Amino acid sequence: MNEDLQKRIQAALANPQNMGEMAGADAIGTVGNADCGEMLRMWVKFKEENGRQVIDRASFQSFGCETAIAVASLATELIRGKTAAEALALKSEELAGELGPLPPMKIHCAQLVEGALRSALSPESAAPKPAAPVAGTTLLDSFTKPKDGVKLTFLD
Ligand code: FES
Repeated sequence: MNEDLQKRIQAALANPQNMGEMAGADAIGTVGNADCGEMLRMWVKFKEENGRQVIDRASFQSFGCETAIAVASLATELIRGKTAAEALALKSEELAGELGPLPPMKIHCAQLVEGALRSALSPESAAPKPAAPVAGTTLLDSFTKPKDGVKLTFLD
């Protein structure tokens, strides 16, 4: 990875945005990459604005891949104020925003974020539903002890 990209990732990691579970989310999506073992979950909350349902805020949890965390941090800011359709139209390289082009070995990190967003905004996930976290439940718990309503998608 080149030095400039590493600096941009470190800058995003120095002040990650929207990290953590979101109580009362309207949609939730979880994806995993079986090759590297990374998993990422995204929560989305909508609001009404000028007669449109737009994304009020989004948050994420991740298992530590720095690039995925940096992209998720940028992406959760980028999608604010967009409709689900507008957010779904964004490609992984757009979600990576100011990180710029990612090297081939890191492209899947941004695709993981795109996948989590797609999973959250897929028709069955986009309908408002309670997504409040269960006390004492961690992201790891939900992968090892899945409960009803938690959908884990492994990306190709
Ligand atoms: Fe696999 Fe980043 S190394 S998601």
